[in-house]
Amino acid sequence: MKAVTWHGKRDVRVDDVPDPRIEEATDAIVRVTSTAICGSDLHLYELLGPFIDEGDILGHEPMGIVEEVGSEVSGIAPGDRVVVPFNISCGHCYMCDRRLYAQCETTQNRDVHKGASLFGYTKLYGEVPGGQAELLRVPHADFGPIKVPEGPPDDRFVYLSDVLPTSWQAVEYAAIPEGGSVAIYGLGPIGQMSARVAQHRGARVIGVDLVPERLQLARRRGVEIVDLNEVDRAPDAIRALTEGRGADSVIEAVGMEAHGAPLGKLAQTAAGMLPDALARPMIEKAGIDRMSALFDAIDTVRRGGTLSISGVYGGQVDPLPMMDLFDKGIQIRMGQAHVRRWTDEIVPLLTEEDPLGVDDFATHRLPLEEAPRAYQVFQRKQDGAIKILLQPGRNASG
Ligand SMILES: NC(=O)c1ccc[n+]([C@@H]2O[C@H](COP(=O)([O-])OP(=O)(O)OC[C@H]3O[C@@H](n4cnc5c(N)ncnc54)[C@H](O)[C@@H]3O)[C@@H](O)[C@H]2O)c1
Ligand SMILES: [Zn+2]
Ligand SMILES: [Zn+2]
Repeated sequence: MKAVTWHGKRDVRVDDVPDPRIEEATDAIVRVTSTAICGSDLHLYELLGPFIDEGDILGHEPMGIVEEVGSEVSGIAPGDRVVVPFNISCGHCYMCDRRLYAQCETTQNRDVHKGASLFGYTKLYGEVPGGQAELLRVPHADFGPIKVPEGPPDDRFVYLSDVLPTSWQAVEYAAIPEGGSVAIYGLGPIGQMSARVAQHRGARVIGVDLVPERLQLARRRGVEIVDLNEVDRAPDAIRALTEGRGADSVIEAVGMEAHGAPLGKLAQTAAGMLPDALARPMIEKAGIDRMSALFDAIDTVRRGGTLSISGVYGGQVDPLPMMDLFDKGIQIRMGQAHVRRWTDEIVPLLTEEDPLGVDDFATHRLPLEEAPRAYQVFQRKQDGAIKILLQPGRNASG
């Protein structure tokens, strides 16, 4: 089959690789029809090379048609249309019983002290072959895949794999008070959908970014925007909009490659030039994060407010402004999304009326073969790219 594979910094290719097969009785094989590229994939594309091997298959936002199931899989059957959550959870361990699916103890990566395995996401998360491929082996398919109805296009459902539950959790964790405000740093797919979910719940939403199309998209949906090209400091601009206090809640949806932090950039570049064996401990111990968005988020939240972090950070010793966090009495929540915890609440919103606007959310739908160009365009934020779906069945010329 064809699959999108990692070959080095900013080097992904479409290779011919062996078809996956059922290996455990709880596996399923899914023929992928749509599979999105995520901001998290960009961390692999640019930064996390030391944790990934040449030829690893990328992707963790797939949906498709079940082709085959193992003998212990009863919830889905060949022919079913399913979305596959990005985290792999067993559904019945200590953590899964508490609905902390991203910490599943059956698929936890204890040797590297990390949580549940993820599709297509490095040695830290199980090095499980990912979903940017024609076929995907889905472990624990007796629990994970979400069955969706025939009829609407893939766009309607594909974001159940990551973007929607992550955004839902971001808003949930933000604990926006009744009639209160939320500031969202980063208007990529996660920030955009977090804004829509927060609005759907009646919050006042202020969005921050620097990319014109992303700001425009948010503004068209009724988000008040702060354009980083126009203000000196976003936290000051947001205080000016909130009677000097700051937003009740803040969602950080940028992550470790934030724009505007020169020191972190230097460390990232240095790590990128070291051999893997040296770069790995440097990233894990010394930290490579560019923390500017996180610092701004801490500055922006009002005293006694809540900070919800969905951006991914990789380092350990970057100093946090602990004094500010403590003095302001802020509550912080973060972590990988517990996808299946939220999907039953989200599905009823994926209706004809499409209140979250998923149907026209993708800016690009491309054949799988065009993955190398798609990664480039998405990373550089060219051509208005906000969300890109790769579609293995799609004709390369069409
Ligand atoms: N917690 C989870 O389970 C989970 C799931 C999916 C994605 N993520 C993470 O969420 C983050 C966002 O994902 P995405 O797909 O929306 O990515 P993205 O890269 O498309 O979006 C990030 C946005 O942040 C903007 N930005 C950069 N620097 C900024 C700054 N200093 N202030 C404000 N905005 C800034 C960029 O212009 C961009 O629009 C990534 O770190 C991703 O890894 C986490
Ligand atoms: Zn993702
Ligand atoms: Zn589990």
